[in-house]
Amino acid sequence: MLDSSYFSYVKFNVDMPSLVSEINEYVQYRLKKFYVSHNKLCRIDFDGELGDKIIKTMPFEIFGMGCYLNPPMWNYPIHKDDERACTVNMLLSDENPDFEVNFIDSNTEERYPIPYIKNQFLLFNTEKLHYVKNNSKKISRLCVSIGCLSKYDDVRKLLEGNGNIGLYPY
Ligand SMILES: [Fe+2]
Repeated sequence: MLDSSYFSYVKFNVDMPSLVSEINEYVQYRLKKFYVSHNKLCRIDFDGELGDKIIKTMPFEIFGMGCYLNPPMWNYPIHKDDERACTVNMLLSDENPDFEVNFIDSNTEERYPIPYIKNQFLLFNTEKLHYVKNNSKKISRLCVSIGCLSKYDDVRKLLEGNGNIGLYPY
C-alpha cells in the first residue's frame, strides 16, 4: 500500500498561482535550453530570481532544482535515485492517463501509481523503487523537481512541524 513513507502532498507559505506562472514562464522561454543530464534525463535548471524564490520557499537545503521534460513514448526504467534521497516534485502538464509514474513495492513487486496533481507539490521518496513512462504519442510531460540529499523521513518531519503537509488550497 502506498502510505506516507512513499510520498506526501506538501504546501508552502507562498502565493502558488504566482509561483506556478513564474515557473511556466521560465520553462517556456527556455524550451531550447533543455539538455540531457548525466542520468539521461532531459532537463533545465532553475537559477536567477526563480531559483532564489524557490530557495527562500523550501525549508531544507536544496540539491539541484529544475524541470524535467519526458518526451512522448519515453521510458525511464525502475530505479532508486543515485544521489538525492528525496525531492519535491510538481506536475506542470495537464494530468494525463498516458503518464505512468509508479512506485514498486520491493517485497511484493506490486506497482502503485504516484497520484500527481497538476500544480501541487509532492514530497517524493526517491530511495523507494520507482519508474517513469510517458505512453503518449504526442504530449511531453513536464515536471518540476527540487532535490534534497536529506532522508525523506527527516524532511517529512521537518515539513510536518512547519505545517507544510497537505494540498495547497487554490
Ligand atoms: Fe527517479
